[in-house]
Amino acid sequence: MKSILDQSGPVDDVASAKVRLPVARFRDASEASKRVAREIAQLIRQRASENRRCVLGLATGSTPVRVYRELVRMHREENLSFFNVVTFNLDEYFPIKPESPQSYHRFMNENLFNHVDIIRSNVHIPSGTIPLENVSGYCRDYEDLILRSGGIDLQLLGIGRTGHIGFNEPGSTRDTLTRMVRLDSLTRKDAAKDFGDLDRVPLLAITMGVDTIMQSKRIRLLAFGEHKARIVQKALQNRMSSTLPASYLRQHPDMQYLVDGAAASCLPPSIFGTPLQ
Ligand code: PGA
Repeated sequence: MKSILDQSGPVDDVASAKVRLPVARFRDASEASKRVAREIAQLIRQRASENRRCVLGLATGSTPVRVYRELVRMHREENLSFFNVVTFNLDEYFPIKPESPQSYHRFMNENLFNHVDIIRSNVHIPSGTIPLENVSGYCRDYEDLILRSGGIDLQLLGIGRTGHIGFNEPGSTRDTLTRMVRLDSLTRKDAAKDFGDLDRVPLLAITMGVDTIMQSKRIRLLAFGEHKARIVQKALQNRMSSTLPASYLRQHPDMQYLVDGAAASCLPPSIFGTPLQ
């Protein structure tokens, strides 16, 4: 059987089309993470100086951990306050209890929220415990909350080996909103190490949709390591389609990929919009 990574369309010749895609390559994951953390901190401070809130879309997984570490450091050492920050997380497994070790509620508390001065009622993470019959209303309310908060100023993203953003797996169309989804088998396989066993990985999740993500004012996608190199190349160069949801990000007016050398290893040199950092 064909693997999911072989199913996408033809490769566009980005160089000959003279398209400069917003990809910045960094020496390592730490440098890229610090760059994004600095951008987030600047945005938070700028908004605070205008007496406005800063709405952040946040991601989980191994990729953003260093960004959160740097933000916590800036909170401790550089007086960065999260008092005006409102957050919306991309996704959560379903079902899952918030105190479960693999829950994204727990991840966010341990990596960020427990260490900064964010107002808890400003934190939003899709629930993994709502009754099934309430899910669609719950997802509509999540969208509504994002809109009423003024929309996401900056959305932080990782990318899964399926090409997912959030848990928008292959098949997720450009117009999708927050909803319940079935996890791709490759995503579940990648999550098995966290759950100890593939059978313990939930089959479902609640995720913001592709359109929810695309409505963010800025998008910053981080990808680190050799295991992300092929999917990064495809997301940037293959035909835009629902077989690779991350490919839609190329339509966004303020989107940037921040990658390390290993994740950039399948990209042609002509693709880099900014020089090596
Ligand atoms: P990772 O996951 O950061 O653990 O690699 C990224 C993702 O699935 O979006």
